[in-house]
Amino acid sequence: MSKVKKENALWWQSAVFYQIYPKSFQDSNHDGIGDINGIISRLPYLHQLGIDAIWLSPIYSSPNVDNGYDIDNYYEILAEFGTMKDVEQLIAEAKTFGIRIVMDLVVNHTSDQHPWFLEAEKGNKKYQDYYIWQKEPPNDLQSFFGGTAWTFNEKQNRYYLHLFSKNQPDLNWENPNMREDIWKMMRFWIGKGIGGFRLDVIDLIGKQPEKEILGDGPNLHTYLQEMYHEALKEKDLVTIGETGSVTPETAPLYTAPERNELSMVFQFQHMALDEQSGHSKWALKKLSVPELKKVLSKWQTALPENAWNSLFWSNHDQPRILSRWGDGNYPLESGKMLAILLHLMRGTPFIYQGEEIGMTNFPIHSAKQIQDIESQNFYQNQQKTGIAKEKIFESINTKGRDNARTPMQWDNTIFGGFSTVSPWYPVNPNHKQINVEANLKNSESLFYTYQKLILLRKKYPIIIWGSYELLDTAPTIFAYKRNYEHETWLVCANFSDQETFYSFSEEPETTVISNYNVTYSSINNLNLRPYETFVVKLKP
Ligand code: GLC
Ligand code: CA
Repeated sequence: MSKVKKENALWWQSAVFYQIYPKSFQDSNHDGIGDINGIISRLPYLHQLGIDAIWLSPIYSSPNVDNGYDIDNYYEILAEFGTMKDVEQLIAEAKTFGIRIVMDLVVNHTSDQHPWFLEAEKGNKKYQDYYIWQKEPPNDLQSFFGGTAWTFNEKQNRYYLHLFSKNQPDLNWENPNMREDIWKMMRFWIGKGIGGFRLDVIDLIGKQPEKEILGDGPNLHTYLQEMYHEALKEKDLVTIGETGSVTPETAPLYTAPERNELSMVFQFQHMALDEQSGHSKWALKKLSVPELKKVLSKWQTALPENAWNSLFWSNHDQPRILSRWGDGNYPLESGKMLAILLHLMRGTPFIYQGEEIGMTNFPIHSAKQIQDIESQNFYQNQQKTGIAKEKIFESINTKGRDNARTPMQWDNTIFGGFSTVSPWYPVNPNHKQINVEANLKNSESLFYTYQKLILLRKKYPIIIWGSYELLDTAPTIFAYKRNYEHETWLVCANFSDQETFYSFSEEPETTVISNYNVTYSSINNLNLRPYETFVVKLKP
């Protein structure tokens, strides 16, 4: 088997990415809404953390039904975020810090306010064929946000497909004119000097809705190859596909370099571990650590050497990882454990804004506080079926997307340093304790663990290239080895609030990082404290 060598490293394989949700990162003009100039003002902070690239959630013109994932003009910036000039300045200033800007590409659907859809509604034949229409719904396909995926359009007197909200009609990828318009738009953004794209729900573009084939449709990879040739190939860009349906078996189809499709994919199998199988994400289940070990390890080992993966715990669609799989009684220990476990794996790590300072979920108690369309729909549908409110809120507070979207907590002032006025969504009251300023002041904070993990990645190629082997340990001990060029590291985490005994037969040579500030001279007969985690280089 050919081994990927560090000489051949691509920038995005050694990089660490940071996701920004613009609406909630930093307000600069006192309207309570995050904006581009706010991001620019925080570049020094991101540089201090050490990241190489920013994945920017959508900043395009949008009616904001789905917070920017419903675009009505790909060439314009949402006014409340700023102007195209601001974006150009962001790209340029980020570059001075060695940071690339990766745009979110939302091309499975547009907004129903996009001129293409408005034209289609009016009867313009060219643009009608940009979307997917049926005289009668061919099936009872459900949208991901709940309810039917086929909505009747009065003007057209027929139904159109929308896999998300009814204000997000799906584009017809079978139409070459439509595809050409997408390539043109991508080339426009590439011309601005961006670092690449994160491709929203891209596994859906090959869908055949009449057959209820959604992810992984027959023409999916043909379109991705066309995209590469028409838009991507000339520049050294990263492309990260959001692929909810991907498995270790299909991942190489997207990411094997010789296929010329994407750089890497986001897989979601670990994110499904705390939902009851066969149900939606709202059907809660406790995480089983052995299952987590199994799923993540499968992704570590099943990919061929030349395929690449991403690593993440959090994003704007997921609850906060510290509330989800960390432990409120041991926030620092469990937060560091999660960070170390993930960043020591093979693949490119993504940090979601605020994860690095230990931000947590935001419990809501009234329907009025629900901002996200997915949660709003869930709430309404559940209410109709007579489910008790407490139960609905339990699901929303555990899994809802608003949890990740509260304003970034910069300091302990009234609006958390996010804004000088009351923000579009309340700042989590725990910003008094949990904020950037407090993290930066304390050398033992979570921030410095993330910073150190990024530094380690720059220094030790074993983190990027090493092979991975899960160790057969106690159920709640998550331990694995990385091996590269005669060097072996051992990563061990006690994923539990219980003290756990474990004895390794190996001998450590040096301690790379640990969350209890311990130097491990021996790893035999360990009494691991709650969430105790360490990485050691083993004696040869
Ligand atoms: C992706 C985005 C999510 C959005 C959906 C529809 O999953 O991450 O936020 O709602 O696509 O665009
Ligand atoms: Ca603003």
